[in-house]
Amino acid sequence: MKNVYETVGNGNLMQGFAEVNAMPLEKAWAYAKHPVACIDCHDPKTMELRVTRPGFLSGIKALKEHEGIKNYDPNTMATHQEMRTFVCGQCHVEYYFKGPEKYLTYPWSKGVKVEEIESYYNEAGHKDWVHAETGAPVLKAQHPEFELWSQGVHSKSGVSCADCHMPYKREGAAKVTDHHIRSPLLNTSRACLQCHHFTENEMKERVETIQARTRVLMDRAEAALLDLIDAIVKAKKAGATEDQLKLAYEMHRKAQWRLDFVSAENSMGFHAPQEAARILAESIDYARQGQVAVEGLQRA
Ligand code: HEC
Ligand code: HEC
Ligand code: HEC
Ligand code: HEC
Repeated sequence: MKNVYETVGNGNLMQGFAEVNAMPLEKAWAYAKHPVACIDCHDPKTMELRVTRPGFLSGIKALKEHEGIKNYDPNTMATHQEMRTFVCGQCHVEYYFKGPEKYLTYPWSKGVKVEEIESYYNEAGHKDWVHAETGAPVLKAQHPEFELWSQGVHSKSGVSCADCHMPYKREGAAKVTDHHIRSPLLNTSRACLQCHHFTENEMKERVETIQARTRVLMDRAEAALLDLIDAIVKAKKAGATEDQLKLAYEMHRKAQWRLDFVSAENSMGFHAPQEAARILAESIDYARQGQVAVEGLQRA
């Protein structure tokens, strides 16, 4: 049984991947039957966990190289527990389309922290769009669950995505992996109490506390960013030059990237609460630094 890329590449995964990347969307769609299938995570012969998505294979190789490990291949070198996260990391990540070939790339060669990915994009001269009001070249985060999770205490303690999102359940005498992947809060008893010896309500409350704190910081980051945008627009109307606005643009890009990274990540801070707070604090600071710089121009 072949996946889409193997089919297009006549058995050659990376060749097929390059060809699909360059296809117009309507043409590529013709090959996509199911967005997520058993063979995305399982070897069809042995049922062992495996990863096949080329973006992940190249991304994790680049990340491991950055950490000093050459020619990393998760299918032969990862532990079983790591595979229980890597199968998800094939899709729940940050990515972009590189160059005119639109090569799907996970920007991890400098690391997976927010500023490491940013520095990758800066070096590549990449922007996702130009902000209509300010003209700043900004970035758009996708859904960096793998990246944020990797900065949290669960990751450091070896807790995988599957531990929380695919907990074991009993079917008759057998223990099977729950393939109904969803929010662990719908399933707190099996998802959390396997390790945490508190009540379901207590665990839910802990999650809600983290998410509410993240939400408040996100709102503040958004307000700070909007103030910066307004300040830039005002300065432009008053005749500020592109050169004078350079620092403000830079701060706009930094602040927006950080806010978007936490917003686009789907756990509302839970996967790494302190990291999410750090990122949002930086976002607020960069937005205000930009605002101070622009308002300084007008006074000068
Ligand atoms: C997103 C990844 C993913 C997809 C898609 C997926 N599985 Fe799994 N599957 C897992 C994980 C993770 C485990 C746990 C394996 C382990 O830890 O050894 C698992 C375990 C299993 C097991 C071993 C028994 C058990 O319950 O632990 C079977 C059988 C299985 N899956 C069948 C399927 C079938 C059939 C499909 C398609 C309908 C499928 N899986 C799709 C990730 C996936
Ligand atoms: C082949 C790509 C792919 C893989 C592999 C994959 N996912 Fe997803 N996942 C998706 C897509 C696409 C969605 C739907 C997003 C939407 O509806 O907006 C999704 C949705 C989800 C959701 C939200 C479900 C809901 O109730 O709305 C969770 C949680 C999730 N995935 C966790 C995981 C975990 C954990 C793994 C690994 C065991 C995994 N995913 C593997 C693509 C993938
Ligand atoms: C320690 C448990 C835990 C681990 C480990 C974990 N998650 Fe989550 N995840 C959660 C909780 C709790 C939420 C918040 C659910 C909610 O708000 O309903 C969540 C939310 C999500 C969502 C959004 C779900 C939705 O309903 O919208 C996705 C997608 C997701 N996680 C994917 C992942 C991936 C991928 C990994 C591994 C890289 C991972 N998670 C690791 C506990 C975990
Ligand atoms: C496989 C075991 C395991 C599972 C499953 C698990 N945890 Fe944890 N959790 C840990 C470990 C280990 C720590 C770190 C404890 C330490 O180092 O002191 C931790 C720490 C935490 C913390 C404090 C750290 C932080 O990030 O703020 C919270 C909150 C938490 N877990 C909530 C949950 C929730 C909610 C679930 C279910 C969705 C869950 N955990 C599932 C093992 C697990």
